[in-house]
Amino acid sequence: MRLGVCYYPEHWPESCWAEDARAMAAMGISQVRIGEFSWARIEPAPGQFDWGWLDRAIATLAAAGLAIVLCTPTTTPPKWLVDADPTMLAVGADGHKRRFGSRRHYCFSSDTYLEQAERITRLFAERYGQHPAVAAWQTDNEFGCHDTVVSYSPNAVRRFRLWLEARYGTIERLNEAWGNVFWSMEYLDFAAVDAPFGAVTELNPAHRLDFRRFASDEVVRFNRAQVEILRELAPGRPILHNFMLLFTEFDHYRVAADLDAVAWDSYPLGALENFWFAPEEKRRWLRTGHPDFASFHHDLYRGMSRQPFWVMEQQPGPVNWGRWNPAPAPGMVRLWTWEAFAHGAGVVSYFRWRQAPFGQEQMHAGLHAPDRQVAQGGLEAAQVAGELALVPHGPMGPARTVLVFDYEARWLIQVQPQGADFDYLRQAFEAYSALRGQGLDVDIVGSRDPELAEKLAQAALVVVPSLPAVPPGLVAALQASPAQVVLFPRCGSKEDSVRIPEGLPPGPLKRLVDIRVAWVESLRPGVREPVAFAGFAGEAQGWRESLEPGPAVQVEARYGDGSPALVRQGRVRYLAGCFDPASTAGVLTQAAREAGLAPEPLPEGVRLQRRGDLLFVLNYSDQPRVLPLPAANWLLGGSEVAPHGVAIARTQGVPSA
Ligand code: GAL
Repeated sequence: MRLGVCYYPEHWPESCWAEDARAMAAMGISQVRIGEFSWARIEPAPGQFDWGWLDRAIATLAAAGLAIVLCTPTTTPPKWLVDADPTMLAVGADGHKRRFGSRRHYCFSSDTYLEQAERITRLFAERYGQHPAVAAWQTDNEFGCHDTVVSYSPNAVRRFRLWLEARYGTIERLNEAWGNVFWSMEYLDFAAVDAPFGAVTELNPAHRLDFRRFASDEVVRFNRAQVEILRELAPGRPILHNFMLLFTEFDHYRVAADLDAVAWDSYPLGALENFWFAPEEKRRWLRTGHPDFASFHHDLYRGMSRQPFWVMEQQPGPVNWGRWNPAPAPGMVRLWTWEAFAHGAGVVSYFRWRQAPFGQEQMHAGLHAPDRQVAQGGLEAAQVAGELALVPHGPMGPARTVLVFDYEARWLIQVQPQGADFDYLRQAFEAYSALRGQGLDVDIVGSRDPELAEKLAQAALVVVPSLPAVPPGLVAALQASPAQVVLFPRCGSKEDSVRIPEGLPPGPLKRLVDIRVAWVESLRPGVREPVAFAGFAGEAQGWRESLEPGPAVQVEARYGDGSPALVRQGRVRYLAGCFDPASTAGVLTQAAREAGLAPEPLPEGVRLQRRGDLLFVLNYSDQPRVLPLPAANWLLGGSEVAPHGVAIARTQGVPSA
């Protein structure tokens, strides 16, 4: 467990660097990430290079004992490059170019930009790939930030046609797969197919989904090109990319497969403000973030990282990009840092060392204020640095509860929501949150994970949020697993081509639960369909299905009209609707109990997490919380955990979850 920081030597006079480096080391920071926005200072004009400043910055930081994480600078192509080739810009759904003036101004499908990105990556890697102080590399910065994955540029259209040809082989097969007989949309050749935008009304969902798959593959290609260069020229240095929050525009599993480790950027307060949370939740968690939001990402990204994942950027104070930007409650920067370690992080690196007094992010806090005085975040980072040695740790073990996650499910439901507010991500998050509120550790596993069968074989409980197109490997892995399984509505409702499966949903999942989903309906907010569960009353909100169960299927809950709302066949349950949060939690808790787990509601705002034989207690609430835990061996804190505080114990005798 190490601490790092993001630093921009090009923002500060060279005379400050040595003092900054010394202060970083004195604070207990051991690594520093640099370079991701540096291109225009390295190559101020085409073919003219100024490496001197970066050489000296690296030498100065290294002299203080800091390891360098060097980034390729491709997230900010210089103005001269854009002017020389404006076709490298992405095009938005409004048909306009997304112009120079901020960052991420490039289209993943531009071959000429890809060549430029390869050129600058190679130059960086030739110069610093074997530098003794450069310990790791980051490709680009936050693919997908600012909604930059999907582009409708002529380059994208050209490459989309090639992608379609590779996928379908003949135009007849594409017409068949997309169902283009509908509305007379059959094409004569691939050159006739456009990007899906600007049509009179709804575009064919199969066309749109394929475009999303294509756009995702373009990110994979762009990242892979840099990885290949770095592997050749920077042998032995781990290559990472910093993913961002719940960006789902590309399949992170596929990008992660090319990396050595995955990193993500954690901004719990900005995220709370910008995501779906209800106004009262936004007020409740204003200065802490939602207690499950950062951890959801830790578990998501841990599940796709070969080595311990990193938090590459940790929020240190107010950000600038939320609609409103509150300050974290004192203690939260420390709590977030320990929480990341609890979930298996190898590194937590703060963004940024010092707040910049200029530019777009001048209102974004750092560990220090622009006048160099240490800020609250800096004090708390230093506190964690002092505490790290008290907590010797081992590796994470697998959790017994698995949540299956899938980026394509998100795209498919976005393309065809059927109910305006049907939100895959929110549903997955709320299921996760319900499990965490019962004290359960959760592994988030991709539906196409190469080790899916092994992972599900070890699980006691597997939860599958709405997964319309079910990969064949998942059906087999669920069949072979001994776990209790909870399938959410819409699972198995589509084929890969977005068609409704023959025999109706849940398609291939009928092998697990013998039902026929005869029809579905979506319901506007405020409409509630009462459900009688065993022992409690609840309701479906937003989505309801009409099931015809086969003879082996038991009905566990019914709608008011007597039709099945929750069914099971052996250890597999299927939810015939989206239930209110308490009912969903009730179903998951019951399944957890039957799985032999010990779900227990935690005090409000408290979360537990086990890492090896360590138990972490994280108190997001503003009240002290006392936990009735038998763990006596406290390494940090004790059984009464302060508001926004952390306690860590060795867990002899604590039941595992
Ligand atoms: C991240 C980004 C950083 C900085 C930060 C501000 O998304 O990678 O460069 O902009 O947000 O919170």
